[in-house]
Amino acid sequence: MSETTINLFDHQTLKDPYTAYQALRDEQPVHYAAAMNLHVVTRYDLVRQAIKDTKTFSSRYDQFLLASQEIMFAQAAPEVQQKLTELAGRMVPTPPTMLTLDEPDHTKYRSLVNQLFVASRIKAAQPAVQAVIDGRIEALTEDVTTNGSTNFIRTFADPVPLRIIGDRLGIPEDRREFFDHAATQAASALRLTPLAGDALVERAQTALDLQQLLIELVEARRVKPDEDMITILANSKLEEEDRYLTHGECIGILNQFLVAGHETTSSTFGWGMLLLCQNPELQDELRGNDKLIKTFCEEALRLESPVQGLPRLVTRDTELGGYPLKQGELIMLRYGAANRDERQFENPDEIDVHRHQAGAQLAFGAGVHFCIGAPLARQELNLGFAALLAAGRNFRLADAGIKPESEASFILRNLPELPLSFDPVR
Ligand code: HEM
Repeated sequence: MSETTINLFDHQTLKDPYTAYQALRDEQPVHYAAAMNLHVVTRYDLVRQAIKDTKTFSSRYDQFLLASQEIMFAQAAPEVQQKLTELAGRMVPTPPTMLTLDEPDHTKYRSLVNQLFVASRIKAAQPAVQAVIDGRIEALTEDVTTNGSTNFIRTFADPVPLRIIGDRLGIPEDRREFFDHAATQAASALRLTPLAGDALVERAQTALDLQQLLIELVEARRVKPDEDMITILANSKLEEEDRYLTHGECIGILNQFLVAGHETTSSTFGWGMLLLCQNPELQDELRGNDKLIKTFCEEALRLESPVQGLPRLVTRDTELGGYPLKQGELIMLRYGAANRDERQFENPDEIDVHRHQAGAQLAFGAGVHFCIGAPLARQELNLGFAALLAAGRNFRLADAGIKPESEASFILRNLPELPLSFDPVR
C-alpha cells in the first residue's frame, strides 16, 4: 500500500487499520488526511512527543467534536435537522472540562475526582468489582449450559463495566436500564459513523433525557450526600473561584466518565477474549498466574487500543518529526498505530505475555491527560480474565467459520459481537 493511496476513512480500513498504519509509520509518520482535515501521527516516538508537549499541542480540540456533529447534521433531511435543532436548544451547554482543557484549568477539575481513583480506594472496592464479575460469569455459564453458546459481549463485556461505572457515579437502581442505554448511545456518538435520521434524533433525545437525569441527581445529592462521584461534583468547590460547579460543568465531567468508563473496558474484554480463542495455548498458561494475566491485559490493550486516537490543536507554527505544522491545525494522535510500532515493540503484531515493559503501551494515553480510570480498568480486566479462566476451559468461537470483526469507527475500536462457547468448570 503506498502512502498516497491510503485513505484511513475507507470502510475496510476503519475496520482493520493496521496495514495502513504500518505504511504510514514507514513512509509518512505525520500524514495529511484531507477527508477530515487532520494531520495523522502514527509513530510511537512522535505520538509520545506530542502528548508530552501540551503547550504546542493543546487539548482544546472541542472544534473537532463539534465539526463532526455538524457534518452529520448537514447530511440529515430538513425535518430531521428541525428536530435536532429543537432538542439542541433544550440542552444545558457543557463548557470544556477535563479532557478538552489544558493546565491549569484541566487540573482544577481533575483534582476534584482524583481521590476516587487512588490506589487505596481502588483496593477497597475490589470485593464489589469481583462480585459484579462473578455475577456475570454465572450468567455466561448458565447461557452456555442451556444454549451451548453465549454472546460474550452482551452477557459479560458490556454489563460488567456498565454496572461498575454506574455504581461509581451513583446511579439509582431504578434508573439503571435507562442509564445503560444512554451511556451506550453516548459512546456510539464517538464512533463518528454516519447514522440514519431517526437514529440521530433518538440519540439526541436520549442525550437530553440523560442530562435531565444527571441534573436531578446532582440536586438530590446536594440535599442528601452519598459516597459517589455525583456527590463529590455536586458538593465540591472550585477553590480559586470559591464557587460550586454549575450544572453544565457537572454534566460535562460526568459525561466523560460515563462514556470513557465503560465502552473502552468492554472493548478490551471483547478483544482479550478473542485473543484467547485465537491463541488457545495461552488459556492454560495464564490460568492461575496473576502476573501473566496482567501482561496479557496490557497486550490486549496494546494490540487493539480501544481509543484508536484523539486530536490535539496546534498552538503555534512548529514541526513534528520534520513535518511542518501551522497554528490552528489539528493533529490526530493514533495510539493504535503507535502501539504496533516495531521501533518500540519487538514483533509488534504478536501477543507476548512475557513481553518486558508491556506497560509502555499508550492505550491509556500519557502525561497530564493519562487516563484517570486506568487503575479501575486494569482492576476490572485483571480480575475479570482471572475469574473467566478459572470458571471455564477451552474458550472458543461458537462458530469457527465466522471471523469476528470490529465496527467501522475512527475513534473507538470495539467488537460488537463475540459468540462464544466454553466448558464450564463444575
Ligand atoms: C481499557 C479502558 C480504557 C482505555 C483504553 C482508556 C483510554 C483513555 C485515553 C487514551 C485517555 C487519554 C485522553 C487524551 O490523551 O487526551 C483517557 C482519558 C480519560 N479516561 Fe480513560 N480509558 C479507559 C478506561 C477508563 C475508565 C474505566 C474511566 C472511568 C472510570 C475512564 C475515564 C477517563 C477520563 C475521565 C479521562 C480524561 C482524563 C483527563 O483528561 O485528564 N477511562 N482514557
